[in-house]
Amino acid sequence: MLQTSHAVAADNVVDAEFVKAVIHGLAQPQKTLPCRYFYDARGSDIFELITELPEYYLTRSEAALLEENASAIMGQLTPDQVIVELGAGSSRKMDTLLRLAPNGVTFVPIDVSRHALTEARTRLAAKFPGLVVRPVVDDFSTLDAFPADLRHRKKLGFFLGSTIGNLDPKHASDMLRSWRRTLGGNAELVIGVDLLKDETTLVRAYNDAAGITAQFNLNILARINREITPAFHLPSFEHRAVFNADKSRIEMHLVSKVSQVVRICGQTFSFTAGESIHTENSYKHSSSAFRTIVEEAGWRIGRMWTDGLFSLYHLA
Ligand code: TRP
Repeated sequence: MLQTSHAVAADNVVDAEFVKAVIHGLAQPQKTLPCRYFYDARGSDIFELITELPEYYLTRSEAALLEENASAIMGQLTPDQVIVELGAGSSRKMDTLLRLAPNGVTFVPIDVSRHALTEARTRLAAKFPGLVVRPVVDDFSTLDAFPADLRHRKKLGFFLGSTIGNLDPKHASDMLRSWRRTLGGNAELVIGVDLLKDETTLVRAYNDAAGITAQFNLNILARINREITPAFHLPSFEHRAVFNADKSRIEMHLVSKVSQVVRICGQTFSFTAGESIHTENSYKHSSSAFRTIVEEAGWRIGRMWTDGLFSLYHLA
């Protein structure tokens, strides 16, 4: 029954896998849900709103850094090269770069949301007629579905939006190392990294006054209700963002306001009042911490640009 769930098939790859991940996560002593499931059609749309929030400086800082350094980044690109965006979403961040791309360059946006990729392809085709767009629906952490015919071409990868911060340092390093294999030893990679800074600024960025981040976080429960079974009473959960100084990360939680029992596919999960589901981490790296991650993965830092809040790395 679950395997044939229609709502899911329309967007992401379906899932028995989703059900399994949810049940597995909620059965842990510290309940958790895998963050890749934030980004269904609705989640991707809400995330676009986050990027425009006054408190969420990350997107604006990164956009300005990309714009100021666009020609340094794109200057060497030749038409036979392939631009890859890992975790692309709407691909809007790429516009300021793509307008400098030579005619005929291939652009491969990779994302788990088919919905976001479809919109991106339509938009990019209209805006950049000289660009060959080849979207790939895949999880950027594995890159299983990378088009075989493009494997031997030189790649310029982009991993923006501080998504690297959503992995713990060990996984970040492992993933960067595996990308060297998939993208090739001669690949270059541009990464957006949020910097460690004062707690107030950080917490605000993940707990905005308009409550959009709360909606985004709660959407993962709404998605379980839509795609698996109406298990969660949303008003009895609330969004919380806390800074964990020991681990240098913002943690996102969904806190149960009351003691309650949730049933999913024959399994029961009980919550005490105040108990949380840990949904996401966003690590904030000092430049030395990030250098360690990069070098452990076998990449080297070519250049680094920063505005004091956010930083952009060009790796080779
Ligand atoms: N990569 C983004 C970040 O860490 C993702 C993000 C922003 C996010 N706000 C969020 C993830 C709220 C979960 C909940 O900044």
